[in-house]
Amino acid sequence: MKTASEPMSGQSRLHRIVAENGGIAPARSGSVRLKTNGLTKRYGETLALSNASVDFRPGIHTILGENGSGKSTMLKILSGVVTQTEGAVLLNDSAIAPRSPRDMHDLGLSTVFQEVLIAPHRSVLENIFLGYDSPLKRRIPKAKRAPLANALLARISRFPIPLFATAGELPLASQQLIVLARAFLRLPSILLLDEATAALDYADRDLVFDAIEDYAAAGNIVIFISHRLEEVRRLSNRVTVLRSGQVVETLERDDITAQRLLKLMAPEAALHVL
Ligand SMILES: Nc1ncnc2c1ncn2[C@@H]1O[C@H](COP(=O)(O)OP(=O)(O)OP(=O)(O)O)[C@@H](O)[C@H]1O
Ligand SMILES: [Mg+2]
Repeated sequence: MKTASEPMSGQSRLHRIVAENGGIAPARSGSVRLKTNGLTKRYGETLALSNASVDFRPGIHTILGENGSGKSTMLKILSGVVTQTEGAVLLNDSAIAPRSPRDMHDLGLSTVFQEVLIAPHRSVLENIFLGYDSPLKRRIPKAKRAPLANALLARISRFPIPLFATAGELPLASQQLIVLARAFLRLPSILLLDEATAALDYADRDLVFDAIEDYAAAGNIVIFISHRLEEVRRLSNRVTVLRSGQVVETLERDDITAQRLLKLMAPEAALHVL
């Protein structure tokens, strides 16, 4: 249900960039809802995630926790990279079980991981459109691809990135911006970022943050993982804290302070600091 304070479902600048450059904006109506119900993931003896229930709403929703607390496991389950041992993921109230990247994209989800997933021998342009075409039809004519790729990159990169350069020969930060452009091109209603800005310097991050804030404000869900508390405080509409695979608490924007976050993440350590 919508409340007055909730972001409106509208067009982000990224939507406009894609539309103005002949790209395809997916037809999705209303605001998106995503929920996990009692998600549990075991790796042998390790309980990576334990009965985790989170209600994601449009906006930037951060998952915070110490190393090994289950953040990536949660995102991998949402992305269909791993399958949960128990529990369910509900997208607009229907259970989903994506089994491949294509399933995931068809559902409107895109994930960017900390590890830079680039095809090193292909061009920047090919990397941005990697996996974009369906087997049956090419969705954007070839001539329109370069202007669209340039427009997307210009939104998130301070420097031009040459479209016909071999991607693997560019600096790591440029490669991650290419991967982010690949995710944005699909205009996912749910964008999952697992430390996706770690390879970027401060100035690069600022542009990307500006883009994702605008994207989330248009009614999309951005699920964000970062270790940097100042980023988390600046960006998050909501923060869910995990500890040892369990959901400790979800805080709303007005309740987010560094002290509270630290205390929820590691109560013992916070006692020593305070
Ligand atoms: N493929 C795997 N096999 C065995 N154990 C795993 C596997 N993946 C994760 N784990 C374990 O599950 C727990 C949660 O890991 P996860 O990667 O989700 O944590 P995280 O919160 O993302 O940590 P980090 O901040 O270090 O990225 C950890 O104890 C980890 O060692
Ligand atoms: Mg992780």
